[in-house]
Amino acid sequence: MTNSIQQNSADWLVVGKGAIGLLSACRLQQKGERVQLWLRQPAPLKVAFTALEGSLQQHQFAPWPKDKAAKLALIAVKAYDALDCIRQLQPQLAEDASLILSHNGLGTLASIQAELKPKQQLWFLTTTHGAYIKADKAATRQVVHSGGGNSILAAIGPNAIHQEPDWQRALAKALGPLQRVTDIQPFLWQKLLINCLINPLTALHQVPNGALASPRFAAELDGLFNEFCLLAAAVGYPQDQAAAWQQLQQVIQRTASNRSSMLQDRLAGRRTELAFITGFVLREAERCGLVLPKHQQLYQQCQDAGF
Ligand SMILES: NC(=O)c1ccc[n+]([C@@H]2O[C@H](COP(=O)([O-])OP(=O)(O)OC[C@H]3O[C@@H](n4cnc5c(N)ncnc54)[C@H](OP(=O)(O)O)[C@@H]3O)[C@@H](O)[C@H]2O)c1
Repeated sequence: MTNSIQQNSADWLVVGKGAIGLLSACRLQQKGERVQLWLRQPAPLKVAFTALEGSLQQHQFAPWPKDKAAKLALIAVKAYDALDCIRQLQPQLAEDASLILSHNGLGTLASIQAELKPKQQLWFLTTTHGAYIKADKAATRQVVHSGGGNSILAAIGPNAIHQEPDWQRALAKALGPLQRVTDIQPFLWQKLLINCLINPLTALHQVPNGALASPRFAAELDGLFNEFCLLAAAVGYPQDQAAAWQQLQQVIQRTASNRSSMLQDRLAGRRTELAFITGFVLREAERCGLVLPKHQQLYQQCQDAGF
């Protein structure tokens, strides 16, 4: 099946040719949305998209035209790229553009908001959908939707609007089920708990997620978990400890054979998001006057290991 670009009222600028950006772009295009890509080197891009149920669909995307102001941008990049990306994108954005930012980890929002014009609205999307890029075949980018999930969306900032934006339904069809919330921070802290335990430990020891269920990791997991709960309570996002521990165990079991994103990045020699996961935890602890020795030690071990 070939999905050509269709004329529609929504014009989506999707940044990059990464896994989540192209997953979104393909699924938006399938729903009849007009999508163009903002790439480091502007050129048309062919994408072979493998859907969750295994069907293969061909997509084609044009580069975003330089002379067109974007009113709607989806920016699913690594946390360490987010600020630079928005700075580069700014001349292309309409005065009242909506920017949907999506990444793992925390700590980017304040500096990004400082880059925005008064009528530009920042949104944050967190998703549990999974996708990856397979080795490129000739000129075609291959994207695999590897895991179904759900997404949470919130407007960010002091002037956040709380009515439903006109693009929300399209986004829900692409990355839904979609829940819109007024405060995304509690959800980001829940996800941070999972990320700051599973990612650095699996990347450091080069093991799949399920290995963390072994007694070898029990004391370390427990110590990291308790320190995180102390911090979360101190910053105003107290965790229901029994529920949070159960959720952590469920993620470890459900994704037992998966390699965490940080392990994949380490093995591929790519930069990891450690500074926005454990690094963020440590910066927040310092801000609150807390010392988290287990997280400090883990961060140091990751740095000593070169990631
Ligand atoms: N993949 C998943 O299953 C998944 C699931 C949930 C959450 N996440 C999170 O979502 C975020 C994105 O993940 P991902 O897997 O999609 O990452 P990714 O595959 O690395 O994609 C990011 C893309 O953005 C591009 N990019 C960055 N800055 C750019 C700029 N200024 N201009 C143009 N392109 C730019 C990168 O290009 P270069 O490669 O040239 O740098 C890359 O193609 C991460 O925080 C990740 O942890 C991922």
